[in-house]
Amino acid sequence: MTSFIAGLPKAELHVHIEGTFEPELMFAMAARNGIELPYDSIDALKAAYNFSDLQDFLNLYYQGMTVLQNEQDFHDLTWAYLERARADNVRHAEIFFDPQGHTQRGVAFETVLDGIWRALEAGEHRLGITGKLIMCFLRDLPEADAERTLDMALAHKRRIEGVGLDSAEVGHPPSKFARVFARARDAGLRCVGHAGEEGPAEYVREALDILRVARIDHGNRALDDKTLVARLARERVPLTVCPLSNLRLCVVETATAHPLKTMLDKGLMVTVNSDDPAYFGGYVNANYDAMQTALNLSREDLVTLARNSFEASFLSRAEKDAHLAAIEAYAGAP
Ligand code: ADE
Ligand code: ZN
Repeated sequence: MTSFIAGLPKAELHVHIEGTFEPELMFAMAARNGIELPYDSIDALKAAYNFSDLQDFLNLYYQGMTVLQNEQDFHDLTWAYLERARADNVRHAEIFFDPQGHTQRGVAFETVLDGIWRALEAGEHRLGITGKLIMCFLRDLPEADAERTLDMALAHKRRIEGVGLDSAEVGHPPSKFARVFARARDAGLRCVGHAGEEGPAEYVREALDILRVARIDHGNRALDDKTLVARLARERVPLTVCPLSNLRLCVVETATAHPLKTMLDKGLMVTVNSDDPAYFGGYVNANYDAMQTALNLSREDLVTLARNSFEASFLSRAEKDAHLAAIEAYAGAP
């Protein structure tokens, strides 16, 4: 099954570029930028990757990104991810970035965007991976901050596919961002949002009804609400599920307790993704592998997950069909 998963063409729809910052690259970049990390070695840093919840992880995630200073840094980070994704047969990636994590510490929005974008263009030409960018608002900051960030993004609309919502969830409901999402939507940007990772099912409902998101990122807690599950299935709302993230952030206790198979059985449009792979111990294939082993997923389940990854993407119908045909060619007729 591991080799079947490895060869399966797939899209990744939930990956934070700052969460792909491998400790080796982080240390090399810190040295070249003259930045001191509060760890003596790569191993000491890795030893700190033992999280009790989302906030515990976010503290290290924001600390790690302070190493990113120049356009070249953002390029190198993105390029490293794309090469790693290519090895997992990722054909298309919709990548989150957190501009406020950079602009707050004096790095220009354009430095971030230009570096990431240059790598995405090279990824398409040299690796054959297409990419789209989704700019996330940090939900623990005020909506006014998000509004200013949207203003910056609107000057670069061609390169930004959509907006998302991430960071500390509990106490920061989607409704807090109603106005900025409405403005993003009116400007033609797609909307997605993290909901139901640590927050309640009600946040998933708000993301749908108030932010009008096209996908829910995570969505685990939606399972607490039967009516909501029925709606998600009926409306075929994609959930970008991140199994190893859920394990490492104690959203689920064990891999066998993960609800992915239950979600599939309830007819939900689920996809498997890596979230912050440098911090959570594996890229997208490792997430598929962990779930296949723990939940005894069949080849059919795996093909459904890969098909869903393209169906739930923001590619055109014709692009989706070309990828779905590649899956069929690989896995046999449906
Ligand atoms: N930012 C990076 N990873 C995240 C996650 N899993 N949840 C919320 N915000 C994040
Ligand atoms: Zn995430």
